Amino acid sequence: MSNAERPWMNPDLSVEERTEALLREMTREECISQLLQVRVDQVTSEQLQGALGSVILAASATAGNDAQEESSAEQVDALQRVAVEESRLGIPFISGRDVIHGHHTVFPVPLGQAASWDPDLVEQGCRVAAVEASADGIHWTFSPMVDICRDPRWGRIMEGYGESVHLMAELGAAAVRGYQTEDPSAPDAMAACAKHFAGYGAAEGGRDYNSTEITRSTLQDVYLPPFEALVKAGCLTFMSSFNEIDGISSAANPFLLDELLRKRWGFDGFVVTDWDAVRELLAHGIAADGAEAAAKCLNAGADMNMVDGLYAEHLPALLAEGIVSEASLREAVRRILRVKFRLGLFERPYTGKRVVDRAPHKQLARNVAARCCVMLKRGRSLPLPEEESLALLGPLATATQDLFGSWTLDGIPGEVLSLLDAFREAEPERKILHADWGDSSGMDHAVAWANRVLLVLGESASRSGEAHSVGDPTLPPGQTELLEQVLRLGKPVILLVIAGRPLVLPEAAQRCDSILYSFHPGSEGGRGLADVVLGRVEPEGRLPVTLPRSVGQIPLYYDHKPTGRPTDEYHRPEGSPGGMRLIDQPGSPLYRFGYGLGYSRYELGEPRVLEASIENGIRVELQVKNVGEHAGSTVIQAYTRIPVAERSQPVRQLSAFQRVRLAAGEEMRCTLQIQPEILAYTHLDGERRVDAGPVHLWIGLHASDGKRIELSL
Ligand code: BGC
Repeated sequence: MSNAERPWMNPDLSVEERTEALLREMTREECISQLLQVRVDQVTSEQLQGALGSVILAASATAGNDAQEESSAEQVDALQRVAVEESRLGIPFISGRDVIHGHHTVFPVPLGQAASWDPDLVEQGCRVAAVEASADGIHWTFSPMVDICRDPRWGRIMEGYGESVHLMAELGAAAVRGYQTEDPSAPDAMAACAKHFAGYGAAEGGRDYNSTEITRSTLQDVYLPPFEALVKAGCLTFMSSFNEIDGISSAANPFLLDELLRKRWGFDGFVVTDWDAVRELLAHGIAADGAEAAAKCLNAGADMNMVDGLYAEHLPALLAEGIVSEASLREAVRRILRVKFRLGLFERPYTGKRVVDRAPHKQLARNVAARCCVMLKRGRSLPLPEEESLALLGPLATATQDLFGSWTLDGIPGEVLSLLDAFREAEPERKILHADWGDSSGMDHAVAWANRVLLVLGESASRSGEAHSVGDPTLPPGQTELLEQVLRLGKPVILLVIAGRPLVLPEAAQRCDSILYSFHPGSEGGRGLADVVLGRVEPEGRLPVTLPRSVGQIPLYYDHKPTGRPTDEYHRPEGSPGGMRLIDQPGSPLYRFGYGLGYSRYELGEPRVLEASIENGIRVELQVKNVGEHAGSTVIQAYTRIPVAERSQPVRQLSAFQRVRLAAGEEMRCTLQIQPEILAYTHLDGERRVDAGPVHLWIGLHASDGKRIELSL
């Protein structure tokens, strides 16, 4: 067929016109093939010649913790040539890969990026990821993950942006902008995928893939708003989640995939099922066989079938029997083609050779790693005084690949500098002694010799991520003993924790001079964290999740509901009487959501409410002053509560935030805008809307900070 006979190749037509023109030409078999996503190691020429929908550039189910073959532009182009040149209609496939927190240049895990509380920074990191990944022939990433998680046992907490609905929505939308740009057809853009739709982070007990108990109102008010924000941000694709809600696996849930996503939110891209999720309907016990599973998922609105092949196997018979309609099949194909046109795949199916200058990417990754670090306690050892000798110890002091964190498929291990090497590179003159973990007397000797100790504890990369949940989210075995051993010698200790989740820290941590917390910081993490300790970059991180005092407190999160007695334990000032829900420990966390120190101090003036209305939400301004001796940065956070509602509402909800940077002594006026939809909640009739009436507002520097302001909408 020449291009003159292929109206869908005419770029002057709209995406809709091109999609319809192509769809008209497609046979039923070609339509079924469009719904197929196959593994790169299993794809056949026959599939490519038959209008294949997608190739996933991965070869195992939990790729986040498995080694993967590299993918390259040559490899993808070679396959694409078969699809484009040897298939009847020349439809390119879309290649997908998990580019979760960077590609060759690895950024902090998403939870670490969330500590930046800075959408611009997240957007920049995802932009870099797209530039690098698209040059390797990757058209589509399975990111961002916007699963709210309130349980640090869940291994995938590292892959999202934490426990707050608003922070998750803001950062997720920033990621989509970074990956896709204004023009997703640009050669260096790639499609984003909102996952896992929905409720995956509510896995009971934090056990991966587990069932959830989510009420309709919690689903709508907590788990879904970040996904709706991603639709608004133009996210081209969605992935259904593995878990069931109310007995229905998401891949087969028409309420989620059709009613909400398409009808109410107006999403017109496509939904891909998660790995093997169609087949998993059998394990869930809601389909008797592969045919029933395929029918349920397609009829519910799941368009593309990731790897298990059940659509391809059963759709011919299901269509013949009328269990799946031709119209449903074509609607699914329409959604997939639309995305392929939007991505410019028909104009530019091949990647070719592209040279990417990674030097600025590495610089950015280093800066992000440093800035996302959270300073939880600051004594006199931070920043590390010049001239002081240092004992650099702990299992993560010499870690390289573990700095990547989980879900790093394309990082380059040889490029990663350990913290120890980063220190030596940054300050060759400083006297540093290191002894391996396990060399007990060597460590004692180093501590006795040095003026200060930097002890780097935490988790290996594979202690978090998919299918890597833990029952005991404390420091791994032996590390608390190591901390005690080091503290016993009486030297000032900077404790640096590097982990994939918020860990319950041992009591001994409070005896350290200073505490820094970094979620796995990525390929430049060694250098970035050395920059922090040496005072070259301020640790600007604020906790995107609560740090509990004990495992028994879990789940513990800042936006809990009030109860009849007591009403608000999390936010009570330390030591205040009453309201003990547990008799053996306080109800407050060790470190609160939104908390983090810097090198300066800030004074917040009286907030002035400029507007409070149902139509426009709340606008409030206040004066912020840096009253310390250093230039620095902090995050002004606004929390709201609806004190009287049809259903009880969270005791506080993050509603707006703004990062400010101020020189010593400098002050500025800061305006925070709370969007009206943030004040909406699910009423008894099942609808989400905003009510007129009282609202409580707090402005402060963490979730429990600030004086209550009472206002009315
Ligand atoms: C994960 C997804 C991932 C997919 C493809 C699944 O096991 O749940 O998040 O995108 O694999 O690798």
